[in-house]
Amino acid sequence: MRNKLDRFRENAESENVIEPGKAIFETIKGRWHAYFGNDNPIILELGCGKGEYTIGLARLFPEKNYIGVDVKGARIWAGSQTAMEEGFSNVAFLRIRILEIENFVQENEVDEIWITFPDPRPRVRDIKRRLTSTRFLDIYKRLLKPGGWLHLKTDNAPLYEFTLDLLKEREDVATLNYTDDFHRSDFPEKELNILTGYEQRYLEQQKNIKYIKTSFLKE
Ligand SMILES: C[S@@+](CC[C@H](N)C(=O)[O-])C[C@H]1O[C@@H](n2cnc3c(N)ncnc32)[C@H](O)[C@@H]1O
Repeated sequence: MRNKLDRFRENAESENVIEPGKAIFETIKGRWHAYFGNDNPIILELGCGKGEYTIGLARLFPEKNYIGVDVKGARIWAGSQTAMEEGFSNVAFLRIRILEIENFVQENEVDEIWITFPDPRPRVRDIKRRLTSTRFLDIYKRLLKPGGWLHLKTDNAPLYEFTLDLLKEREDVATLNYTDDFHRSDFPEKELNILTGYEQRYLEQQKNIKYIKTSFLKE
């Protein structure tokens, strides 16, 4: 078992981890297609933790590029190592705070965004820090290409309702689909069958997984 410092050291040497201190960290914005060496779609997972969802998607869709974003290097390390072990050239991890993402990803550079089991941040004073609060939704809209999808999976009913209410109030939402019981729904995304550690735990606790799939109108 590697300790945190070992993990940080390995991240520093891993090409698929883009983080402060590396030259590419300063220049990657708008250059993701060059980084991956293709023009394939780019998909973000925000708050990716150990990158289980990112890796699961990359396994299923080698013709797409995946970027897992998280502020915690010790967690990203797990996904980075798996991607290297499995020889994936379509996976990268970006270690930043999501609020800074527009310094690293250009407007309209992204085809889809996944947010899987974000911290619910139940306290009223933390509303702004929820990854689906208005300021974050505005960022996601700018990053996404016209017609690009934002997906949210959560076990947390208040966060699900909070997000749905915000999306229903907005005038720039093109499509809004949702379910409070993803695993008994007809959403094709169910067939992806990718479970993060968090989702496995919630399912064992008999919790329903909630899911929102939305897209924005862009001028
Ligand atoms: C509850 S975990 C879920 C991890 C993963 N999506 C999963 O399902 O296993 C939430 C993750 O989001 C990350 N996170 C929360 N807020 C963040 C922010 N503002 N910027 C970057 N990462 C953030 C945390 O570091 C943590 O790894």
